[in-house]
Amino acid sequence: MTLVALICEALHPQHNANQPHMCQSRGMPWSNRLDLTPLNRLSQHRHDLLADGFELTDLTDSNPTRHGLFDAGLLDIIASQAGSASRYQPTPAGPWPARAALAERFGGDPDDYWLTASTSEAYSWLFTILADPGDWLAIPRPGYPLIEPLAHLAAIGCRPYDAYYFHPSGWETDLDQLRRLCQAPGCRALVAVNPNNPTGAYAEASMIDIAARTNQPLIADEVFFPFTLDEAAHQRLAGTTECLTFGLDGLSKLLAAPQLKLGWIRLSGPKGQLTTARRALDLVADSFLSVNALVAGALPTLLDQADASIERIKTRLATNLATANQRLAGLRLRQAAGGWMLLVDLPGLLDPDELALALMDRAGLSVHPGYYYDLPGDTIALSLLPEPAVFAEACQRLTAVLAVLTDELT
Ligand SMILES: Cc1ncc(COP(=O)(O)O)c(C=O)c1O
Repeated sequence: MTLVALICEALHPQHNANQPHMCQSRGMPWSNRLDLTPLNRLSQHRHDLLADGFELTDLTDSNPTRHGLFDAGLLDIIASQAGSASRYQPTPAGPWPARAALAERFGGDPDDYWLTASTSEAYSWLFTILADPGDWLAIPRPGYPLIEPLAHLAAIGCRPYDAYYFHPSGWETDLDQLRRLCQAPGCRALVAVNPNNPTGAYAEASMIDIAARTNQPLIADEVFFPFTLDEAAHQRLAGTTECLTFGLDGLSKLLAAPQLKLGWIRLSGPKGQLTTARRALDLVADSFLSVNALVAGALPTLLDQADASIERIKTRLATNLATANQRLAGLRLRQAAGGWMLLVDLPGLLDPDELALALMDRAGLSVHPGYYYDLPGDTIALSLLPEPAVFAEACQRLTAVLAVLTDELT
């Protein structure tokens, strides 16, 4: 099961209404920050099918290492650093050469960067330094399902700002709603995912202005930034000096290498706000010292491979997008400007869970209903990463089973 699937289960406890909450059933004083809800009905069914040896094609799988997109040569680069990692030389922000390489590629100064074990860990550091229990963040809806559980682990909440889809022009964010949220008491940061996952919509540049005028720090997650699916010019938020900004990125997407466990935070903003931000980041980095010396030491050489990796992934995305346009022609495919996902609106034939169960049982396809991402239930998010032949065949099976269901139910 993918991490996102696990998170989604945690986010939708109503689908486990008949099962006792694990915290209560164990009678232990577990933290209320945890949601230990067991598997929902869909995931349980998927788990049971797999346990019975049933083959499922996971149409939501965006783990690049399962789709032939990880370059195993990166491991040789890391192995070549082995000698230099034999001595422990802790540096809270990460080794200077690694940060210098980031500054050279992305801009700024090496001292503007802090290495983390992942982008997810970077989020948790920022939640720790920016908010107190009971405070909350303005987060995008629809959006990346991991932000909310990460915030809950830090004992802080989330309030959504919405984006609406207009076909075929794309997504529009409700910037007035965002501005109001940023002005409300208790709001401690504005989170922008640029481009968003799973909508693929790039963030509006005016978010910088909103953060600056409302004096909110901007957390700009740009892990998907290079993966454009259209010809438009898009703007990074990370690196802006107009508001206090924490840009997030990492090797998970840049090098299709989530297993290398390396992310980073880039700090920027008005000069007067940077000194305290640096001290706060140093403090939390020094407390964890979480970065692996081998990968951090190899980063300058690893980054030399980033452009080739981006091109390889973009070719895969474009190939599968063309296939989807051809093979799913009867369905509405939502415009995505970037990212690794494609949102497809299915006909409202069945309750979303029943449809997902039917796709598993009849077509061997595993999908997440849209409500997992705060989308309409009949919208599904397809990963554009699978091998082209696998993706094409899965699209074929999807249309075939939808045709049968349409015949049966209409
Ligand atoms: C928008 C977004 N940010 C961050 C991450 C997590 O990246 P990492 O593996 O560096 O924690 C993901 C993973 O899918 C993501 O979709």
